[in-house]
Amino acid sequence: KCGGRVFSGIQPTGVPHLGNYLGALESWVGLQEGYSSVLYSIVDLHAITIPQDPAKLRDNILDMTASLLACGIDPTRSIIFQQSQVSEHAELSWILGCLTSMPRLRHLPQWKMKTKEKREGSVGLFTYPVLQAADILLYRSTHVPVGEDQLQHLELAQDVARIFNNRFGELFPEPQALLSASCRVKSLRDPTSKMSKSDPQRLATVYLTDSPDDIILKFRKAVTDFTSEVTFDPEHRPGVSNLVAIHAAVSGQSLEETVHSARGLDTAHYKQVVADAVIQRVAPIQQEIARLQADRGHLESVLSHGAERARQLAAPLLAEVRKRVGF
Ligand code: ADP
Ligand code: NA
Repeated sequence: KCGGRVFSGIQPTGVPHLGNYLGALESWVGLQEGYSSVLYSIVDLHAITIPQDPAKLRDNILDMTASLLACGIDPTRSIIFQQSQVSEHAELSWILGCLTSMPRLRHLPQWKMKTKEKREGSVGLFTYPVLQAADILLYRSTHVPVGEDQLQHLELAQDVARIFNNRFGELFPEPQALLSASCRVKSLRDPTSKMSKSDPQRLATVYLTDSPDDIILKFRKAVTDFTSEVTFDPEHRPGVSNLVAIHAAVSGQSLEETVHSARGLDTAHYKQVVADAVIQRVAPIQQEIARLQADRGHLESVLSHGAERARQLAAPLLAEVRKRVGF
C-alpha cells in the first residue's frame, strides 16, 4: 500500500453509460487495491445545482449505487456513500468558498459553458468547483481519478489547499490527478463529441442496462464514413475509430490487435461485431444491476454504512479545520 487516499465522485444520473463505465468506473474498480482508503461518492449535492425532480433524484441515487456495485466497487474495500449524508462536505465547502475569489471561479470553462447555454446559473452552479475541492480535501485525498475535462477543477482544489495551508498551517496534501488511460468514448451519432447522458440525439448513447436489441440498433445506426475498411485514425475517421476504441476497451485487446482482428470486415459487418462484444461485456453487469435494484433496502443500507465510515474520516478533519479557522 502506498498509504495514499483516493477520492472520486459521480453524479446520480441513474444507470451509467458506456463512456462513464469505460472512462471512469472500470478504473475505479482497479484502484481498490494499493491505497489506504478509497472513497467513491454519489454527489447529490452537485446534482441539485440544476433543477431535479425529487422522486427521480432518489431513484437515480439508488440506480447509480446499484450500478457502482454491479461494476465491481466493493463496499468492503471502498467507502461508497451519498455525499449529502455526510454534512461535512457542505460545511467545508463554505469555509473554502470564503478563501476563493470570484474571478478565480468565473474563469473556469464549465461555468462559462453552462451559463452560455442557460444564461443564468444558480449560485450553487457557480460555486460547484469549491464543493468539489471540499469533497477531495475533506479526506486529505492524495489521488483523484478524473477525466481531462475535470483537470481545471482539480487545479482549483490544489490552489485552495495551498491557500488554506499558507494561512492556517500545513494540513492538506496536494491532491494529484490520476488521468485514466482508458478511452474517451464518443457519441455514436456525432463522433466528434463525447458520449454523454445529455446528448439530445436519439441512439447516440449506450447505457449499461440497454437491451441487446437496443445495443445492436444503436451500433447499426452509428455514424461512420464512406470507406468500408476498418482502420484506427481518430482525426480523419472519428466514427470508425470510436468503434475500434470501444471494441478494444470491452475486449481488453490493444488497438492494433483490434484493428487486426477486423481485417476483411466492412464497417456494416464490424458494427455487428462491436455490438456483440459490448453486449457480452455488459451482460453480467446488467444482471447484477437488476438483482440489486430489486432490493432497495440493501442499497440504502450500503449507503448508510458507507456514510458512517466516511464521517469517521471527515469529522476529525473538519474539527481541526474549525479550530484553525478560529471557531
Ligand atoms: P456525462 O458527460 O454523461 O454528464 P459525467 O460528466 O457525469 O458524464 O461524467 C462522469 C464520469 O464519467 C467522469 O469521470 C467522466 O470523465 C467520465 N465520462 C463521461 N463521459 C465520458 C466519455 N464519453 N468517455 C469517457 N469517460 C467519460
Ligand atoms: Na457532464
